[in-house]
Amino acid sequence: MAQKHILVGNWKMNLGPAKAMEMAAHFLPLAKNLQKSEIWVTPPFTSIAAVTDVLKGSKIRVGAQNVHWAESGAFTGEVSVAMLRECGCSYAITGHSERRHVFGETSELVAKRTLGALKSGLCVILCVGEKLDERENGATLEVIKAQLAPVLKELTPELAKNLVLAYEPVWAIGTGKVAAIKDIEETHQGIIGHWQKSCAAPCPPILYGGSVDPDNATAILKVQGVGGCLIGGASIHPEKFPKLVAIAEQ
Ligand code: PGA
Repeated sequence: MAQKHILVGNWKMNLGPAKAMEMAAHFLPLAKNLQKSEIWVTPPFTSIAAVTDVLKGSKIRVGAQNVHWAESGAFTGEVSVAMLRECGCSYAITGHSERRHVFGETSELVAKRTLGALKSGLCVILCVGEKLDERENGATLEVIKAQLAPVLKELTPELAKNLVLAYEPVWAIGTGKVAAIKDIEETHQGIIGHWQKSCAAPCPPILYGGSVDPDNATAILKVQGVGGCLIGGASIHPEKFPKLVAIAEQ
């Protein structure tokens, strides 16, 4: 059977515990009878426990928007794998473009987060993607290779089993601009080709992200090499997210 498409909702800094519980309860029925897709939701840290409570026993996975590699200690503002697990998280996102470009996280720092979480047994969605000027200069794949490099340096096939990649062109995030289908396909194939040359493990699923919504999801999910979508705005929309799930189930 074909690999299931993974639909990951990135709720970003939206929905405190009370509103997040309402949203989770609204999405709960979507998890029944899923055949071709999986649903993962990623609330802000403070809403994670409330959301896992609502989704307990369902197939919807709950994750975090970032993670630190140390077990505990003097790391103000950070959260460890053990803490996330205790709240019911089974994965974390690392290297989201907002972390890289708004908060200045370097690829080396992102790699520490990614490898640390993987070594602790957490599943990780590692995000990569180019800025507009980089795309216009034809540097997309070079940028992505550089973002992957510090992770690939230490990644073992065992650790790679728990890794998912997300390709998100920075200029397409939250802007309503979606990459052209041929560019999505070319970039995903480029990542797969690079991965096969650089790592003994099979290439992980690669999600596409950036202004995914019900109007463009059908075409995006058909692209060879797209393993699902990382969805921001539409993932906290009470009608759009269920529509996306219906599209993935078609
Ligand atoms: P968007 O966000 O769907 O709102 O563009 C995607 C993301 O940031 O992961």
